[in-house]
Amino acid sequence: MKSRYEAAKNVFIDSVDIDDYIELESSVIAYQQLQHSMDKPLKMILLFGRPGTGKSILLNRIAEKLKHQKEIHYFDTPAVSEKEFFHKLFKVLTKKDLPKNTEVNFSALVDFCKNLRGKREIVILLDEAQMYGAEMMEKIRLLSDSRAVKFVVSLHKTEDEDLIAKEHFQSRIWEVIELKNATKQDQTTYIHKKLLKKNLFEIANSIKDKDMKLIHTFTKGNFRECNKLLFTLFEICEYYDKNEPSKINYEQIPQRIIEMAALKLGYIHV
Ligand SMILES: Nc1ncnc2c1ncn2[C@@H]1O[C@H](COP(=O)(O)OP(=O)(O)OP(=O)(O)O)[C@@H](O)[C@H]1O
Ligand SMILES: [Mg+2]
Repeated sequence: MKSRYEAAKNVFIDSVDIDDYIELESSVIAYQQLQHSMDKPLKMILLFGRPGTGKSILLNRIAEKLKHQKEIHYFDTPAVSEKEFFHKLFKVLTKKDLPKNTEVNFSALVDFCKNLRGKREIVILLDEAQMYGAEMMEKIRLLSDSRAVKFVVSLHKTEDEDLIAKEHFQSRIWEVIELKNATKQDQTTYIHKKLLKKNLFEIANSIKDKDMKLIHTFTKGNFRECNKLLFTLFEICEYYDKNEPSKINYEQIPQRIIEMAALKLGYIHV
């Protein structure tokens, strides 16, 4: 027989699917900030935050929401080569395909963009932009000078890196939006809403406030870590449910199981 925890486990598989987007206090603020910045003229927008803070899903959400009002395009992982990137950009800007073996003439593309000024306004959302080199970024900046193409550049920052301190981002063309880990309240809402969307009411209710506190302590409010912890937690519950149901309490997730999941993921050590 299938365990009720299997569906709960699957809710927390890490993926970026805008149908699963949840409005949280922090994500609403970030969304509004981003939209507001996009409406300003002459800006490069930097969206940054630690891995797993929701940058990709936010970019996808805004692209989906605004697609009927704006020319907006989401570029996921960077193209393998500069050539490929400019091909893709060329297509978006000119609405024409370039033959495979031709190189995009960069200065012609800049001129093309200058000509668009006042006629079209295009927003390009560049995800994972830490993978673009300095030279590429400089070209991207040159294109944005046309004021017809605006770039939202999403980067993840690592522990030891202060991105904003980089010379590159110091100039005033950048508007900066930072995504942070979730508060306990937002994380609680996130977990509840994810489960409720799949009609897992009983399971949502079985995670009590003190459990949420514990989960927040272990994951520090990071969405990806939260997904991992809940997946593992429900995986353990599923195992007990099938093999040793006496160890499970359907009304309340035993705290011990949360700790087992944390142990398995290395948040705590014996
Ligand atoms: N508001 C939200 N609604 C629903 N899911 C969210 C939300 N915010 C974050 N998530 C989920 O959290 C996980 C991490 O988010 P995402 O992949 O967007 O992070 P990221 O900042 O792009 O990370 P990275 O820097 O590693 O690319 C994903 O599974 C995503 O679906
Ligand atoms: Mg991402």
